[in-house]
Amino acid sequence: MAVFTFEYQKLKSDKELTPSFHHILTEARIATENAYAPYSNFRVGSAVLLANGEIVIGVNIENASYPVGICAERSALSSAISQYPDEKIVAIAISILAPSGENNTPAFPCGMCRQFISECEDRNEEKITLILAGQTGEVWLINSSKDLLPFSFGGSDLKQS
Ligand code: THU
Repeated sequence: MAVFTFEYQKLKSDKELTPSFHHILTEARIATENAYAPYSNFRVGSAVLLANGEIVIGVNIENASYPVGICAERSALSSAISQYPDEKIVAIAISILAPSGENNTPAFPCGMCRQFISECEDRNEEKITLILAGQTGEVWLINSSKDLLPFSFGGSDLKQS
């Protein structure tokens, strides 16, 4: 039997983060205020840390034609790659501001964002750390999107045909 396992860190609070990771989590938390989420009222903020120290934020942007909306993670990564195409992406922080007011636990990236981040890692040739948290409380650190998307489909699969 083959088994897939991965290690991740669950921190009690943001106080245990390194200064640069703390900084982008703060930016992601603040960015939730910029979300355009009139349909779900579920606000998501994201902040990408680049190797040159730049930070690029993104938010979820919904649309009356629901599938047209974009998640905060893809919004931030698209901006980061557009502005700094040659810069490596070190980490992405994701936070939420939920209508329920329950904002002390993280939400995890959706399947489409996992696939998107996975290809960013391939392009990057380095893993991207995921920093997941609500507005307060536990912070989860995940070493790679591929830990959340085992056996992912990627460019190398297309080349097989
Ligand atoms: N959302 C994100 O921005 N990121 C995710 O990974 C999960 C979901 C957004 C999409 C939609 O605007 C709202 O949250 C509710 O699904």
